[in-house]
Amino acid sequence: MRVLTAAAATLALTFGAQFASAAPVEIKFSHVVSENTPKGQMANRFKQLVEERLPGKVEVKVYPNSQLFGDNKVLEAMMLGDVQMAAPSLSKFQKYTKSLQVFDLPFLFRDMAAVERFQQGEHGQKLLGSLKKKGLVGLGYLHNGMKQMSGYAPIRTPADARGKKFRIMTSDVLQAQFEAVDAVPLKKPFSEVFTLLQTRAIDGAENPWSNLYTKKFFEVQPYITETNHGLLDYMVVTSAEFWLELDDDLRVEVKKALDEAIVYGNQVAAEKSQADKQAIIDSKRSRVIEITDAERQQWVKAMKPVWKEFEDEIGKELIEAAVAANK
Ligand code: SIN
Repeated sequence: MRVLTAAAATLALTFGAQFASAAPVEIKFSHVVSENTPKGQMANRFKQLVEERLPGKVEVKVYPNSQLFGDNKVLEAMMLGDVQMAAPSLSKFQKYTKSLQVFDLPFLFRDMAAVERFQQGEHGQKLLGSLKKKGLVGLGYLHNGMKQMSGYAPIRTPADARGKKFRIMTSDVLQAQFEAVDAVPLKKPFSEVFTLLQTRAIDGAENPWSNLYTKKFFEVQPYITETNHGLLDYMVVTSAEFWLELDDDLRVEVKKALDEAIVYGNQVAAEKSQADKQAIIDSKRSRVIEITDAERQQWVKAMKPVWKEFEDEIGKELIEAAVAANK
């Protein structure tokens, strides 16, 4: 009886250990936007590809709409192993590296093609490694699009923004950008923006078309000015600890699935920047204002000195490389 029990225990231990080692790796992917956005669609496609190709080996759980973590907490949670992947906007890495601030400089990129050239070029690729010292790995960039300004009153020139409160992401460059036009920038989490606008605690915000539409900001902002004054793109990140502990074959497949999901997400971004703008126009809840070249030049003149202010932190060479991507 005793012998049998010992044998059973040995069997249980053996199979138990095998079972434990065969448990799928779990990737929690946390983000703050709706599923019907470039990032939401990319994350869902990533899940689909990984689970098709690595059934029983890797499971991806996607948490949209700040359900798991807001962007202000997600990177800390990643270091603690509570989440494995996220794609915060490039404006939210300032605590971890100063170089990514280049993406926040106002009127830096002419269009998304220039952004793509810069990100895929030598400097952009090097920036993916800029979080290494902090234990994070940049796996790739994802587009959303250019930001537009919204408000309760029409905004055509910098004078219209003077004294108005604008919500910004946690970026000192964005703070300086609004201070340059004598506006009052407030760093607030994305999850609070709708309520802040609805209750008129703030006057306006800056967002790409997809966030304006999917988070219904257009319903509480009667005017949206097509300024295209800055970029809102993302970096998909993971922790070095999680990434390097993955088996080599799994890491290769997961990265391949992510690269494909990003290509898909970028297509969604290109399509949605037009479609969501049109949906807002069609809704008639918000008037879309186009500014003249002369009006645009007023914004450029007021905001461009911010480049010089951050040149030492970002690096002159990096700024020049970004400018060169416009050609
Ligand atoms: C996002 O697109 O991930 C949110 C950006 C923001 O906080 O405005």
